[in-house]
Amino acid sequence: RAEEIWLILSFGMIIGFMLLTGYQTFVEGMGPPSHKETIDPQKVDETAPFDNPGITQIGENEYEVVMTLEVFNFNPGNIEVPAGSTVHFTLTSKDVVHGFQIAETNVNAMVMPGYIQKITQKFDKPGEYLVLCNEYCGAGHQMMSTTITVK
Ligand code: CUA
Repeated sequence: RAEEIWLILSFGMIIGFMLLTGYQTFVEGMGPPSHKETIDPQKVDETAPFDNPGITQIGENEYEVVMTLEVFNFNPGNIEVPAGSTVHFTLTSKDVVHGFQIAETNVNAMVMPGYIQKITQKFDKPGEYLVLCNEYCGAGHQMMSTTITVK
């Protein structure tokens, strides 16, 4: 009978979703601590590599940017790289949750106090890329932006 089949099918789907949700919660619950390096947000300035924020060339067309975020600044701001560069960002927040979004790219990350966020992005097209905080972080949130210039 058709109704019985539908009943069994929908019941099966409910069980399936429950298992999937349970599995995802389990996997994600296990995930973040092992994937994210932690840092004491009170001691960012004394903790390597954040004791020396800035941009370093680490290879041909390859750069590392160590950056701290705090209300309402990116430090360092206004960085410049040559076109074709791959940039490895290492980020943390010194106070509240901030965002790190680079316009015209897929980079869109949360930067939380206590955690180190790592993102790699290649910049092929020359131009001035706007970097925005996309997490509400206080009265100056709207003004929290900087640029990455690709030359
Ligand atoms: Cu920082 Cu919004």
